[in-house]
Amino acid sequence: MLSIHNVDKIYHSRGKPDVHAVRALDMEVKKGEIVALLGSSGCGKTSTLRMIAGFESVTSGSIALAQRAIHDLPPAKRKVAMAFEGYSLYPPLTVRENIAFALKAQQLSRAEIARRVDEIARLVEIEDILDHHPRALSGGQQQRVSLARALVRDADLYLLDEPMGQLEPQLRAVLRGRIKGLLAERGMTAIFVTHDQTEASALADRIAVMEDGVLQQFAGERELKNRPANLFVASFIGEPPMNLLDTAVTPEESGFRLSAGSDLAFHISLQTLDVMAQQTLAQAQQIKVGIRPQRIAIGTGESRLRVVSNQWLGDQSHVAGECAGHLVVAVTQGKVAARPGDVVPCTLDARHLHIFGADGVCVRHAEAR
Ligand SMILES: Nc1ncnc2c1ncn2[C@@H]1O[C@H](COP(=O)(O)OP(=O)(O)O)[C@@H](O)[C@H]1O
Ligand SMILES: [Mg+2]
Repeated sequence: MLSIHNVDKIYHSRGKPDVHAVRALDMEVKKGEIVALLGSSGCGKTSTLRMIAGFESVTSGSIALAQRAIHDLPPAKRKVAMAFEGYSLYPPLTVRENIAFALKAQQLSRAEIARRVDEIARLVEIEDILDHHPRALSGGQQQRVSLARALVRDADLYLLDEPMGQLEPQLRAVLRGRIKGLLAERGMTAIFVTHDQTEASALADRIAVMEDGVLQQFAGERELKNRPANLFVASFIGEPPMNLLDTAVTPEESGFRLSAGSDLAFHISLQTLDVMAQQTLAQAQQIKVGIRPQRIAIGTGESRLRVVSNQWLGDQSHVAGECAGHLVVAVTQGKVAARPGDVVPCTLDARHLHIFGADGVCVRHAEAR
């Protein structure tokens, strides 16, 4: 449906160094799919959307929508609707006129335009401000007008740049559900930008994780959590973040021994390693491993955790402590009776380890649950 091939974006500004905002981006979005672009500020999310919409040129590469190359077309010819990060509403027009603007060009009847504007206004809860002008609105209201203006259109693709960033959490959760319903019901294809993992997981079928202009991994939420492609995704996705440990590698008869300090060692059997992972371990003296906080068991086991803090969050405990020379966090479902300074037994199981090569690529994932 949408096919982005080898796209680069370099901004040249006079008197300033070039900014390489997007690098060799390859991405395919299916018809009817909802995709989240997730990443920290400045990683190239907005640049990517603006290139798809046509408000920014591609420096190189190609973009096709419904089998039609669009990267050289003007925005109006692309059949792409976009809600901008900065809203960009027309100040002289009322909210209703702003939303109806693109529909008027489509030569729909007045009644049909009014019906569609009312419907979308109800969905994003702005029926009461349809006669106001943008300058009289709060940031959150302007953002919803911008969202409505994009969603009301007939387009092949909808691009939403941080569409709910200005809204309170409660309203955001409600709109998220409604927008997801609308997109699904109409089979709309959409890409939205967010830096909020929860929002990405709640709304998207697949999540594209970007960092420093580079697409790190493009997959469903479970896949990102269970099979992170590299160290960046492993530590970026998941709350609290994955624990990372440096271990020393010793070959064994049937695999490898990975040890951190004197009282923490893992035996990794050859059977759990593919050829690349075996080679990586065979060549390494030190290797980074990761384990999710939810996979560390507290209260039993051979290893020791010196507790630094223990927080009960109402439904789970977060226990942070020092283990084998590393600060780690464990999450348990039940309450843990441990105070700072206590030493408690804990288990870090080799089956739960992700193993990362020197280049950061994950060469072995934890066993799926
Ligand atoms: N018009 C521009 N001119 C120069 N640099 C820009 C321009 N727009 C964005 N950038 C730079 O490109 C990088 C990516 O920006 P952007 O795509 O807005 O990231 P995000 O939306 O992920 O925060 C940033 O370093 C930003 O400063
Ligand atoms: Mg942005």
